[in-house]
Amino acid sequence: MKRNIRLGVFGFGCVGQGLYSVLNQTRGIRAEIKKICIKHPDKQRPLDASLFTTNRDEILNDPEIDVIVELISEVDAAYEIVATALKNRKAVVSANKKMIAEHFPELLRLQQQYQTPFLYEASCCASIPVLRNLEEYYDNDLLTSIEGILNGSTNYILSHIFENNKNFDEALKDAQQLGYAEADPSLDVDGYDAKYKLLIILLHAFGILLKPADIFNYGIGRIKDADIRYAREKNARIRLIARCAKSNSHVYAYVMPAFVQQADTLNKVNYEYNGLLIEGAFSEHQFFMGKGAGGNATGSAVLSDISALTYDYRYEYKKLQQQLNLAYSCNHLLEVFVSYVPGAKPPCEDFSSISAVHESVDFNYLIGTINLEKLMQSAWVNNPSVSILLTCNG
Ligand code: HSE
Repeated sequence: MKRNIRLGVFGFGCVGQGLYSVLNQTRGIRAEIKKICIKHPDKQRPLDASLFTTNRDEILNDPEIDVIVELISEVDAAYEIVATALKNRKAVVSANKKMIAEHFPELLRLQQQYQTPFLYEASCCASIPVLRNLEEYYDNDLLTSIEGILNGSTNYILSHIFENNKNFDEALKDAQQLGYAEADPSLDVDGYDAKYKLLIILLHAFGILLKPADIFNYGIGRIKDADIRYAREKNARIRLIARCAKSNSHVYAYVMPAFVQQADTLNKVNYEYNGLLIEGAFSEHQFFMGKGAGGNATGSAVLSDISALTYDYRYEYKKLQQQLNLAYSCNHLLEVFVSYVPGAKPPCEDFSSISAVHESVDFNYLIGTINLEKLMQSAWVNNPSVSILLTCNG
C-alpha cells in the first residue's frame, strides 16, 4: 500500500477519539483521517463539522479512502460496514471483538475471496500486542496454553473492591465513565467480552475456529461479600481469568473468576490493565502486561494496524494453514469453589470429587473437582444464589 494513507473512520466514541489523539501525536506514520461517520450529528464534538458525516456510503464509496477503521459498538451495523468495505477491496481495521467472534467464518471468507486485509489487533487486550505475536513470533513454537486477564473493566472493578473497599456498583460506574466498559456493561461483567477475545486468540494460537456458545463464560456478577472475605482470609484476590490450553490432543477454553494468590503473576495486574501468560513447549513462560481498555491504549493498537497495512501486512492464519488438527473439547476437570445460600447446594453427584464442605449460619461452600462439560450443562450454574470460582489450583 502507498505510504500516505487516507482513513475513513466509523465511530467517534472513546476509541475513535483515542485514535485521533494518538494519530496526531505520532510522527512515524503518514496517515490522515478523511471522514468520520457518526450516528448523532447534534452531539458537541471537538473537531470541525466538515470532518463528520452520517452517510456511511460517503466513506465506503469514496475512492480516495484506502482504509476503513470500524470503531462502533453495534454488531450488525459493524459487520455490514466491514463486509461492504472488504467487497469494495478496502482494507479494514476493527476493534470490535463481538462482531469478529460472531462473524469469524464469513470474515475469513471475505478476506480470502476479495484478497483484502482485515486487521483487528485492538480487539484483544487493547495495547498488548497479542495477535501479530501469535501469528508471527509464535509461528513455530508449540504453544501449550494462553491464560490471562482479558477484560479491563472487570479487572478495574475487582481491583477497586480488593484494594480500596469500593462497592461493585460504584466501581462499575467509574469504569463506564472512564470509557473502559462496553456500551452494554453486562458484556464485561458476565464474561462475554473476555470470551470473544479468547475466541479470537484460539484461532491465532491453535487454529481452532469456534462459535461464542462453544466457550463457557461465568462472570463476576454473582461474587458475594462472603466470597471476597474468604479470598482475603486466604491472602488471595479474585480475578476474571480466560484460559485456553492444550491437554493431550485436545484444547479446552473457558472464562471464569478465580482466586489468585499473592505470588501469582496475574495478581500484579491491576485496574484497567490486562495480563497474558503465554506458554510454549520451547519458549516456556512469557508474560505480557499492558492497558487493556481506554481510548489511547486501544487507539494505539488501531494505529499499529494502520501502520502494518503500510507494509502490506495481513494475517495469514498460519495455525489454520498448518492444519494442527487439534480437537476442541470441554472434557476437562476443574477444581472449583462453590458458595451457595441454604437450599441452593449443587448436587454432589455432579462433582468428580469433593474435598471440603463448609456450612454455617452465614456462609456455605464446597470445594470440588468437576468436569467443564458437566458445569456447562448444569442448571444450578445459572442460579443467582450460587457463586462459582476456580480455586488457586483450578
Ligand atoms: N470493555 C472492554 C474491557 C474494552 O473492559 O476490556 C476493551 O476491549
